[in-house]
Amino acid sequence: MQDYHEFLDKIIITEADLQERIKEIAAQISSDYAGQRLHLICILRGGILFLSDLVRFITVPVTLDFMAVSSYGSAKRQTTGQVRITLDLKDDISDRNVILVEDIVDSGYTIKSVLELLETRHPRSLAVCTLLDKPERREIEVPIHYCGFKIPNEFVFGYGLDLDEYYRNLPFIATVNTEIYQPEARPK
Ligand code: PRP
Repeated sequence: MQDYHEFLDKIIITEADLQERIKEIAAQISSDYAGQRLHLICILRGGILFLSDLVRFITVPVTLDFMAVSSYGSAKRQTTGQVRITLDLKDDISDRNVILVEDIVDSGYTIKSVLELLETRHPRSLAVCTLLDKPERREIEVPIHYCGFKIPNEFVFGYGLDLDEYYRNLPFIATVNTEIYQPEARPK
């Protein structure tokens, strides 16, 4: 297993900066939904660290649910822009204030597809909260109501974002030195 220090190019968002910004977003959400209940839906798997930190600082009554969609970069998504739901919600969202929580919006296809699906279930309101936004990569316009950081089009990992499923647990966001990172060296 390659030590991430070998291929880490630069920490672009430190743990302290992440936590400070997450508290700010939580405060904004708590203010926007004051006096109401909130239902957060995390899109697995990248969003789980962000969700778990965000929810600690939300002060309105909040419930959680999870969904998963087909893997990033699948041939199907590249050609059609569609994503496949691989894990659906447990609970009904009709007449609830829903916020979708994501780690990153890249092309926009994931959020677009999930929003279209959830709209058919008649939530009272539906908003998007993403930790990271890569606007240069956008292929389809999507609404983003809460955003942690806009980042350049660089290969990033950490804090929910994986490199071949590893390194999601790191508490910061960093860029990868792709000349040094060796995916083939990873054990299963
Ligand atoms: C990543 C990320 C978003 C999506 C964004 O998920 O978590 O869900 O890609 O890309 P898009 O805007 O181009 O659709 P991924 O499929 O890598 O799965 P993961 O969350 O399990 O890592």
